[in-house]
Amino acid sequence: MKDILAQLESRRETARAGGGQRRVDAQHAKGKLTARERIELLLDEGSFEEFDMFVTHRCTDFGMEEERPAGDGVVTGWGTINGRQVYVFSQDFTVMGGSVSETHGAKICKIMDMAIQNGAPVIGINDSGGARIQEGVASLAAYGEVFQRNIMASGVVPQISLIMGPCAGGAVYSPAMTDFIFMVKDSSYMFVTGPDVVKTVTNEVVTAEELGGAVTHTRKSSVADGAFENDVEALAETRRLIDFLPLNNREKAPVRPFFDDPARVDKSLDTLVPDNPNQPYDMKELITKIADEGDFFEIQAAFAANIITGFIRLEGQSVGVVANQPTVLAGCLDIDASRKAARFVRFCDAFEIPILTLVDVPGFLPGTGQEYGGVIKHGAKLLFAYGEATVPKVTVLTRKTYGGAYVVMASKHLQADFNYAWPTAEVAVMGARGAVEILYRSELGDKDKIAARVKDYEDRFANPFVAAEKGFIDEVIMPSSTRRRVCRAFASLRTKKLANPWKKHDNIPL
Ligand code: HXC
Repeated sequence: MKDILAQLESRRETARAGGGQRRVDAQHAKGKLTARERIELLLDEGSFEEFDMFVTHRCTDFGMEEERPAGDGVVTGWGTINGRQVYVFSQDFTVMGGSVSETHGAKICKIMDMAIQNGAPVIGINDSGGARIQEGVASLAAYGEVFQRNIMASGVVPQISLIMGPCAGGAVYSPAMTDFIFMVKDSSYMFVTGPDVVKTVTNEVVTAEELGGAVTHTRKSSVADGAFENDVEALAETRRLIDFLPLNNREKAPVRPFFDDPARVDKSLDTLVPDNPNQPYDMKELITKIADEGDFFEIQAAFAANIITGFIRLEGQSVGVVANQPTVLAGCLDIDASRKAARFVRFCDAFEIPILTLVDVPGFLPGTGQEYGGVIKHGAKLLFAYGEATVPKVTVLTRKTYGGAYVVMASKHLQADFNYAWPTAEVAVMGARGAVEILYRSELGDKDKIAARVKDYEDRFANPFVAAEKGFIDEVIMPSSTRRRVCRAFASLRTKKLANPWKKHDNIPL
């Protein structure tokens, strides 16, 4: 018996050693943690239960039968984050470059199947040289099996991808189908074709970091949702994000203890909106002043900053926030902002997270760039996402909300539950000057007359009361009482039930 136990321990030790000390040192030298170190930091201490530690590949080509490392380049299993169950796979770059073989893929599929069945999130830590070259099509098939599970898990359990090394070629499409992608600066990259192929085909000279690094994907492409300085920060922030999310689409997000009075009044909000309508103010100030303890987890902070998306808690409950940001492009909606917010709204709706929308939007951004880029179709995504969302929806208008953008931003007409306006709100087809220039074109030469017309238009429409008279605004509220009003609104909606007509699935403009 003693021998048998010793044999188990020795086998475990070999498996835990991955590709050996030399390769582990090389991994550390690149500033990267190993697959197992990452799992340790991600999960609660001592909570990790491993699967398939002894799985080996079955390839016999290219002399592969000589080397069959236990685990086959990926560590899989489950554990807890602040006591809540998650499934994890962590590719081990020290074992054949973390490359994906038939068995490596099967290990990932096993925990994904369990995650779907048991209703717990999947966190995938990607650090891989891609398809195991020696296995050919068997490796591609393995990827295909993982992709299919990503699709089936979508909207059922949250899926988070951490990119902590190479992720290239078709391999990128697994993370691409997950809900959130976090990358590490200077040590991770994602691209469909690498710098060498790019050089050959398009003659562009570009480094891997420029082509597909964390900064590129969080600022330019919007493929990734967050960029972090190192593995430790990325793992810690993933733990923080998981705390905002439900385990699956049939459960509610956890309710966390809160110490912030839901009735807290913040007098500074009464002067947040400047007197000059063209002067910006920082909408993040409003978000953090509404949130429990000022805690805000922002998603895609570096992309389309004219709209803000992220999670807060109100009375300990998770709420998704979408807010126009007047300091960037005056808070206009454009292609990027619409896509960013639409995907966020759909995530919240899929996982029963209520949505708070803070509106100050002068309209859609004009220009050939926008029209040629399909702003019609992309703007429609946000409109569609809001309209189909059945979760509790509370909207606060702080200042302008003009034209189509008024309707898009969680207006009453899109099944929003509470639509509040600050006294500074203006709901109109367009700004007063633009309106007067169209309505009174023949008087444009007469400055005094036009000024009077603008004043008249402003008096009539530059306020929330016209919309309130029609019931499109439920109430005009004091800015300082926003947290209290919004908390009460969401509290009253906890039992909301709303179902859209049956359909196989919708046909959102993609
Ligand atoms: C088998 C691989 C491998 C692979 C790396 N290794 N990639 N083994 N299949 N795809 C092995 C190396 O032989 C080496 O083994 C160890 O992993 C570390 O690799 P290095 O090259 O020494 O590391 P580094 O210099 O850091 O370079 C990393 C790399 C490079 C840039 C990822 O290894 C590389 O270019 N690999 C090939 C990438 C590739 O073309 N993959 C297929 C893409 S197609 P030893 O024993 O020396 O430690 C694809 C399609 C997916 O992935 C399609 C899905 C539908």
